[in-house]
Amino acid sequence: MTQIKIGVIVGSLRKDSLNKKLAIGLAKLAPADFTFEHLRIDDLPLYNQDDDGQQAASVVRLKSEIVGAQGLLFLTPEYNRSIPGVLKNAIDHASRPYGQSAFAGKPAGVIGASVGLIGTALAQQHLRNILAYLDVPTLGQPEAFVHAKDGLFDADGSIGEASRKFLQGWMDRYVAWVRLHQA
Ligand SMILES: Cc1cc2nc3c(=O)[nH]c(=O)nc-3n(C[C@H](O)[C@H](O)[C@H](O)COP(=O)(O)O)c2cc1C
Repeated sequence: MTQIKIGVIVGSLRKDSLNKKLAIGLAKLAPADFTFEHLRIDDLPLYNQDDDGQQAASVVRLKSEIVGAQGLLFLTPEYNRSIPGVLKNAIDHASRPYGQSAFAGKPAGVIGASVGLIGTALAQQHLRNILAYLDVPTLGQPEAFVHAKDGLFDADGSIGEASRKFLQGWMDRYVAWVRLHQA
């Protein structure tokens, strides 16, 4: 069975990140030919355009992981009604130098979890704007603004009963979206 490799980019560096847990729970809902690889963004320097000609080893690694993936999965927290700086930093790095972006044409899913009631809706919209500019086709529907409540995850890290049907539906559409772009 040919594996479809998904590069997972979580916009939180927090050890107990809800979004990291959501990434792990979602992966359990995917078919057996999908593998999910978490891409590190915590060791990237702050983006500085002066370095475009000699990107750091961590940046070169991230770009090559993105290029080698058949799809991307972004999980963003919402920080002050937008995406976290660490996520924007990673995207800026991988989009440069001009004309050598790692992103063009990679199908992506955008999702996020928050303790707030609107569950990352604004952050996701900002992220979609950025990805549209980078020529990343993002799954439009269903949108998933995950409100993190007790029971979102089972003890083994699976998605809890109350959210499973909805998130399974989301994953099914995401898988179809990635497959559509393999042709
Ligand atoms: C700097 C900062 C800003 C935040 N701003 C928002 C916000 O605008 N909307 C929201 O729903 N939650 C906001 N939160 C709460 C986050 O949703 C919450 O910390 C969440 O757990 C972060 O995701 P993580 O668990 O993956 O780290 C903010 C948290 C921090 C630390």
